Amino acid sequence: MASYQLKINGEQVFIDNIADDTPLLWVLRDELNLVGTKFGCGGGYCGACTVHVDGKAVRSCLLPVSALTGQSITTIEGLANGDELHPLQQAWIDQDVPQCGYCQAGQIMNAAALLQHNAKPSIEDIESAMAGNLCRCGCYVRIKSAIVSVAAQMAVDIVGIYDPETSLGVKELQS
Ligand code: FES
Ligand code: FES
Repeated sequence: MASYQLKINGEQVFIDNIADDTPLLWVLRDELNLVGTKFGCGGGYCGACTVHVDGKAVRSCLLPVSALTGQSITTIEGLANGDELHPLQQAWIDQDVPQCGYCQAGQIMNAAALLQHNAKPSIEDIESAMAGNLCRCGCYVRIKSAIVSVAAQMAVDIVGIYDPETSLGVKELQS
């Protein structure tokens, strides 16, 4: 058993008397009451537990707390900028993406990492990046549509144009 200091959602938190191999998911939910991150399979297969570690999407059910000292962890609770939702969170609301909602924090965190590292993803990039995040309610079309809408807006913001023939377009979802 050991104590750890972790940086989670911009704050330093202290965890006492915890086993070195305790997965981050357990720390978040059981020690810190950050229950937006969900337990799905517990084996790295579903993506429900996805959070960011130093900006990369990771499966918190697989990461031991002992591997996280000095790294910056972001959960769904820390994705918004104060009262301002992350654009993906807003798109999720605007497009009524969730059904039961259980997988959605992991979906959003995975999509946010994608857009952070690839500001102008193709449809194939999105499909590839999201392929490992499962949704038992089958909300895949709305999930992809919401990501496309945010990526398309980012493309407009970045290059000042939006060319649906060569870049992103909701039309592609319908073909
Ligand atoms: S709970 Fe972590 S991948 Fe399923
Ligand atoms: S919305 Fe129910 S599991 Fe995805």
